[in-house]
Amino acid sequence: MLVVFEGIDGAGKSTQVRRLVQSLRDENWDVVVDREPTDKEHGRRLRESALAGRLSPSEELALFIADRRQHVSEFILPGLDDGKLVILDRYYHSNAAYQGSRGLDWREIIRQNEAFAPRPDLVLWLDIDPAVSGARIRSRGDVANQFERIDQLQRCRQIYSGIGDDRIVRIDGGCDEESVANEIHSAVSRLIASRVP
Ligand code: TYD
Repeated sequence: MLVVFEGIDGAGKSTQVRRLVQSLRDENWDVVVDREPTDKEHGRRLRESALAGRLSPSEELALFIADRRQHVSEFILPGLDDGKLVILDRYYHSNAAYQGSRGLDWREIIRQNEAFAPRPDLVLWLDIDPAVSGARIRSRGDVANQFERIDQLQRCRQIYSGIGDDRIVRIDGGCDEESVANEIHSAVSRLIASRVP
C-alpha cells in the first residue's frame, strides 16, 4: 500500500509522518518511508534552487518529474513489490499544487505523473491556512524559501482542494498535533482493514 502526505509548507507533514511510521512499526507493520524531492541528484538540485533562485516553471516541472521517475523505479515500486507499506512525505499532488500555482495546467501535471507513477491508496492532505503555517515556519526559526510565498501557498491550497480524488482525505492541519495524529491513524487503519483479510 502507498500512503502519501500532502499539504503546504508548515502544515505539519514531517512531524505526522514520523508519528505514523512509529505507530505502524509498533504494530509490526513493515514500513518504509521517504520524501520528495528526494535526496538524490535531481532532488538536491531542486532544494538548492529553492534557496538560490527559482528555475522556470517548465524546467522545474521537468526536474521534479525526473526526480520522481527515479524514485518510482528505485524506491516506490520495489517497496510495493516486496509487500511493504510505503509512506511518502509529498508525491505528485505536490507537483500539481506547486507547479500549478506557477501557472502550469495542474490537471495535465497529474496526467503526466499518472502515466508512470503508481497511484496512492490514500492521500492524507493536511490542510491549513497559509497565514497559520507561515507563522509556524517562522516560529521554528526557519526562513520561508522561495517555494513558500504566502500568495503562492494560497493558490497551492486552492489546487489541493480542487483535485477531487476520492483517495484524498482532508485533515484539518490547524488542530493540535495529537488530534491530527489520531485522525491520521484512524484513516490508515481503515485502509488497512479494507485491504488485509
Ligand atoms: P519540503 O517538504 O518543504 O522540504 P523541506 O522540508 O526540505 O523544506 O519540500 C520542498 C519544496 O518542494 C516544497 O516547498 C514543495 C516543493 N515541491 C514542488 O514544488 N513540487 C513537487 O513536485 C514536490 C514533490 C515538492
